[in-house]
Amino acid sequence: MELLRSFFMEDYLEGSRFTARYNLGESGGRPRTVGELLTGSGVGPQQAMDTFLSTLLRDSPNWGRADLRELVAAMHPGATRDNVLITTGTSEALFLLFRQLRPRKVALAWPAFQLLYELPMQQGAEIVRLPVRWDSRGVPSVDTGEWLARLESERPDVVVINNPHNPSGLVLSPESLERVSRWVEKSGATLVGDEHYRFLSSESETLGATVYRPGMRSFVTGSFIKCLGCPGLRIGWCVGDTAMLARMQNEKNYTTHTVNPVAEWISHEVLKELRSPALTEAREDWRRNRRTLAAFLERSQGVYGVAPAGGLVTSIGVRGVASTREFEAKLQALGAAGVFVLPLSAMEYGEPSGSHPLERGHGFRLGLGIAPELFPEALETLERVTRG
Ligand SMILES: Cc1ncc(COP(=O)(O)O)c(C=O)c1O
Repeated sequence: MELLRSFFMEDYLEGSRFTARYNLGESGGRPRTVGELLTGSGVGPQQAMDTFLSTLLRDSPNWGRADLRELVAAMHPGATRDNVLITTGTSEALFLLFRQLRPRKVALAWPAFQLLYELPMQQGAEIVRLPVRWDSRGVPSVDTGEWLARLESERPDVVVINNPHNPSGLVLSPESLERVSRWVEKSGATLVGDEHYRFLSSESETLGATVYRPGMRSFVTGSFIKCLGCPGLRIGWCVGDTAMLARMQNEKNYTTHTVNPVAEWISHEVLKELRSPALTEAREDWRRNRRTLAAFLERSQGVYGVAPAGGLVTSIGVRGVASTREFEAKLQALGAAGVFVLPLSAMEYGEPSGSHPLERGHGFRLGLGIAPELFPEALETLERVTRG
């Protein structure tokens, strides 16, 4: 049953990914071409073609290319290349990490990106939900005191911090991060930071905060592939204790083995300069779509919520919806009008007893990974359908 449900979100996305007129269901940025990524990283067409055509399709090093690991280490103060394992997307990093951690109890913000709880649950772990709350305008927040009390009473052995958070768009304050990290440190638990959206978590800085601290009980998973609209590259990483990474790598040897050398080369080009046009433009698209969404939500009569503080998704409520049936009717009408969104129920979120409509699952995840020129039109269609 758990496994069946775990496929639901991805199946839902795949069902409309290639067909929806306005795809607002995804969690990644506007898809980029290989050419856009490379020219935006300072690699001219001739150089790109020469390198591509002469790349040997042999196995990459098992841990990932040394120079790529160094670039990832540089983004995590205190880490060296020995603290970095290159993986097939953030998903594989999480998969390998949870299999080695074998947690008994995992605490994480709720709702949550599916892998973060399905993987530990498949190993028999219990899940401790640290609630995200919404106010009447749909502004998300966490009560750090409430989280700490929960941690203290539940005593999980792994605490996951997904920052920026999928699906609320929250960026935890430095104080919250510090207080939760301190609790983990003191309790002897392990901290796992899922920093998948780290490149889109600050207005001014390319790189947002990391919870990584050198040591044996701090791990971070991440990537740039969703932030830059290139999930097809399937590159990610885990940063942490070398001995643990070695055990993960050992398992990786017998599953995906290595990543594709072409993907590694492109990733190296993208990460070698964090102020490159490729990254700057992706961040500008993000800022522009956030402004468009914020202005829209100010005046919307059909939906409520806020633009994400970080990352490419936010949770949106539909006004005037009193029951699940009414909410589903709106969703259907949106689909018929070509607007694709991901209901929070596809992320297994929502209880009939919830005190806020979003807690009852009467809302959807809205992604900002649409071309900025098309976003206003998509939002106007959303408004017309939800207000009607
Ligand atoms: C928070 C979070 N973690 C991990 C992933 C997995 O990403 P990927 O395997 O595509 O790198 C995603 C994908 O959307 C995500 O939103």
